[in-house]
Parts: sequence; structure tokens; C-alpha cells
Amino acid sequence: MCGIVGAVSQRNVVPMLIEGLRRLEYRGYDSCGVAVHRAGMPRRARCTARVNSLARTISDIHLEGSLGIAHTRWATHGAPATENAHPIFSRDLIAIVHNGIIENHESLKAILTAQGYEFQTETDTEVIAHLVHSFYDGDLLSAVIRATRMFRGAYAIAAFSNDEPGRMVGARDGSSLVAGIGETEAFLASDAIALAGYTNRFIFLEDGDVVDLTPGNLITWDRNGRSVKRPDRMIAQSLEGASLGSFSHYMQKEIFEQPLAIARTLGEIDALTPSIFNGADRSTFESVGKVLLLGCGTSHHAGLVAQQWFETIARLPVQVEIASEFRYRDQCHDPRTLVVPVSQSGETADTLAALKYAQMMGLDNTLAIGNVANSAMMRTTRSAFLTGAGMEIGVASTKAFTTQLIALFLLAATLGRVRGTVPSQQESAYLQQLQDLPIACRAVLAQEPQIIAWASEISQHENAFYLGRGAHYPIAMEGALKLKEIAYIHAEAYAAGELKHGPLALVTPEMPTIVSAPNDALLDKLKSNMQEVRARGGQLFVIADSGTGLSCANGLRVLETGAYFGLLSPILHVLPMQLLAYHCACARQTDIDKPRNLAKSVTVE
Ligand code: AGP
Repeated sequence: MCGIVGAVSQRNVVPMLIEGLRRLEYRGYDSCGVAVHRAGMPRRARCTARVNSLARTISDIHLEGSLGIAHTRWATHGAPATENAHPIFSRDLIAIVHNGIIENHESLKAILTAQGYEFQTETDTEVIAHLVHSFYDGDLLSAVIRATRMFRGAYAIAAFSNDEPGRMVGARDGSSLVAGIGETEAFLASDAIALAGYTNRFIFLEDGDVVDLTPGNLITWDRNGRSVKRPDRMIAQSLEGASLGSFSHYMQKEIFEQPLAIARTLGEIDALTPSIFNGADRSTFESVGKVLLLGCGTSHHAGLVAQQWFETIARLPVQVEIASEFRYRDQCHDPRTLVVPVSQSGETADTLAALKYAQMMGLDNTLAIGNVANSAMMRTTRSAFLTGAGMEIGVASTKAFTTQLIALFLLAATLGRVRGTVPSQQESAYLQQLQDLPIACRAVLAQEPQIIAWASEISQHENAFYLGRGAHYPIAMEGALKLKEIAYIHAEAYAAGELKHGPLALVTPEMPTIVSAPNDALLDKLKSNMQEVRARGGQLFVIADSGTGLSCANGLRVLETGAYFGLLSPILHVLPMQLLAYHCACARQTDIDKPRNLAKSVTVE
């Protein structure tokens, strides 16, 4: 989703802005641009192509400057066209980049039009530029403060005025923005990774903040117009993960990194104690009477798998919510609830809003599971667990998902330990199983050639079914989501027993059905469900544990995942589904790491 980079310095900042945009490409975008201060009138370059192509244009036109702002845009209001790309100017004086949505842009537009402003774009952002311009009397800071007071919605902005060559102003509410300070320069960015190598000193702005940046200095103002000191954080960032190595796509690389990512997430854990979770202690867990899991997309699927773990292991009632729906319903809340937002990026607007809604209801025992240290979510909750997936670049979440599952399993087992439902023998058994998991994952991933063969058939269809039962039903949902988002094949997941209640009508030889078949208590029921498909000429592709008795005879295609892995089995079964989506996408030659219309970090509601 939209990415912002800005810099004010004493040297040419354009190479740094372009590098910053490259590092934000993972968020997903459909156009990009850079603007710099120049005596007389600001200059800019914008395009609907990739950042590399913007960089070529910039070098052709010799765009340079010591004050500049840059942006990757993921269209919400207005088509992905060059004229809608940011930076957006107001009367060649004010330059703005924006992430978020100004919900009252229509009424603001009417006011500004009456004042004589002419709109050149279809964006909501243009009202920001003109509004700042309308308040501008030579002091950008006060113009931005006055403008932001009129916005409804979410925003992170970076702005400069062409009349103030050594100054940049930023503001945020609901969308992320971090400021960075160097010796003789100052920066703004949506994500600290954009500034790696330029500074280690960061200030995470809070909702309602406005920040005034000059080379080597910044002053922050809160929403009440008071000057505030936000804490500096020294963060050494690594760009590790940013290179493809021998892989064809980041998604493939990230799928194969999972054994390592799981091992990293487990780290040195040798006991299920509250201290595994940063900021938590025994009291965090003792009082818990219910768990509320919040997330979107893949992170929501992680919650659905974990629901069964919390119930089985810790004997706790669990509510799993799609974050974008949660706050629009009346909730009957239990004050003993542990609220667990799950998010790879930690910046997903819907999940953040759901978390804030829960906090507003007085549920303040909150524990975030995320993959990005210092992300909004990790800073907002009382305790947190940072997964060890490392930077995930592919839009399709893979290693972030399996490491979220590890974190959730640890949480369920730790709650169980504190509540007395996990005796010490069982604790050792869980820890051993977790330690054994990376090797089991490697064995499953080694079956990639068979998945490629499946993909050559499945990729020729436009629809597919995914079936699972128990904790493998959300795994089927995750498999279907992957196939949709990467291979653009319509896929639906069903709890296998549901098929005969309607969807079976769609089963024909043209409808491949992918089944997750663990060797668990529901196996015989699942086999009956598979028979229902076979009897209608459906093609079955089965991911099965050894010992299930399922084999490649009788019109079945079977991929073996090894012995049943107990409660952790869903983690092994999702791996072939990730690979299947990936190879179907390869066969259909889609843009795998940046699938159409999607963004890595979904920072608008
Ligand atoms: C999964 O492949 C997706 N790209 C998407 O569903 C993602 O999981 C969702 O947008 C939530 O993101 P988050 O984990 O960063 O909050």
C-alpha cells in the first residue's frame, strides 16, 4: 500500500528517495513519484511503471535537490494514472504525499472549489494540498496543523513548501509515519526499513502528531498543539532477505525459508513461561478467561487454526474475528479477555482499528503477534511476541503465516501451563515436537517436483475446491486464498462435511479438489467426503499423512507429508498448498510477488 519517503538535507537526496521507494515496493503500488524543491517552482517526476523506470526518468531529466518527498501509490480514489500519482502540488507552491483516506474529502473539495481552487486529479489527497495552501502564510507547520484539524479519516503525510527550502513537515493519524534523524539531515518514511543505512535514530510518531523537520533536527507537536518529546529509538536494521539468491521469486524463497524461520521463532525457548512474551508476566495469563483473536486474511486464518489449540490445550473459550468486521458489531465482552491481534506487518489498518475498539471497551490485557519490531501494533499492546520470519517481501504471506502459528501454539501452551491444563511431561513433549518441526517441514518441501506436476494440471482450470476438517479447514481456506491471490484461480474452501449441503452441485471433472488429509480422528469421515467427490467424477489431489491408507490408486493423486504430526499437523499441510499456488502462478505467468490489485501492507480500511 502507499509508501512515503521524505528527506531534508544539505546534499542531493534524490538517490536516497529512490532507494527508499525501492525498499517500500514490497507494500504494493501502482504508480510512483518524486518531487524536489527548486528555486522558483518545485519539480517532480511521476509514472505508472515501477520505481526502476522512475529512476531512469529522473536521471534523464537530472532531477536533484536537497529537499524532496517521494511516494508509491496504491490507488483508492482515482485510477492508477500518472496525473493521480503523488507528489501532488497546490499552485506550484505546496507539495504533498499522502497515505490513507480523507473521508470528508468531498465536503472539503466543495469549500476549496468555492475558494477558487481547481482540481487536477481524482484523488482525495488533492484536498490536503489545497487546504494546506489555503492556510499558508509563509509558515508550513502552522498551515499543516490547521489543515489536519479539518480531516476525517486516516492519513500520514509529508509536505514541503517551495518558499521554505530547508524544511519538511509530516503528520499522521491512523496511518504509520516514522521520522529519522541524521547528523545533518532528517527523514520521514512509512516504514523504518526505507531509511536503513541513512540513520539508526528513529522517532515513531503517534496519532495526531505533526512534525517539523530541518537538517539534523525535528520538533514534534501533539494533536492539541503542544510541543512533545517522543522517545528516540536506536534501531540497527538489516536488509537481509532483500536478495533473491538462487530463487526465481521472493515467494518461492520465503516458502523454502520456513524451516529456518520456524527455528528462529522458537529460538532458545526451553520452557513454556510467560517471559517468552515480551512485557508479559504470570498475571498476564492467570486472569485470562477468554481469548479474542483479531486478524485479516492469512493472519485471520492463523487465528482460526489456533482457536482449536486454545480450546484443546488451554481449555479456554476463543472468539476469532475478521478485524474489519469486529468493531461494527455490538460486542458482549468478557473483562477477562486476552486480546491478541495477529499481523505480519503490524500496520494493518483494520486490525489496528479492531484492537483500539477492544481497548476502548476496557479490554486492556492485549498481546500482539507480529513480524515487524516497532510496528504500530507491537507498540500499542501491553505485551508482544515478535515472530522470527525475517523480512517477508512477497505479497502472499507464507513464512509469516507458519511463524504466526508457532507463536500462537506457544501462547496456547503457555496459557495451558499457567492454568494447569498442561502438565510438565506434556510441556516437554510439545517443546520436543516444536523442535522437530523444521526437519519435518524440509521433508515436505522436498516434494516440490510432485507439486509442479499437480500444478501443470490445476493451473489449466479456472476454479478449484479445497477441503479440510478440524484445524485443517482453515488450512484449506489458506490454500484457497493463496491460489486466488497469486494464480488468479477462483478457489473456495469448505469444511469437508459441508460439501453435500450445496457446493457438491459444482463438482465435475473440471473442478479439481485439493484435500488436506491428516491421519487424525476425522480421517474416516473425510474419506467418505472424498468418495462423494469421486462419485461425481471430481479430480482429487490429496495431501495425506502416511498411514492414512490413501494412495495414488483409484483415481486419487496423493502427496505424502510423513507421519501425523499431532496438533502441529496444520503447519506441515499448508506447505504443499503454498507451493501449489506458487507453481500454478508460474504456469500462468502472473506477477507472483506483486499480484494485481494487492498490497503487502494494507494501511487503509
Ligand atoms: C496473504 O497472503 C495476504 N497477502 C493478506 O491476506 C494478509 O495476510 C492480510 O492483509 C493481513 O496482513 P497482516 O498480517 O500484515 O496484518
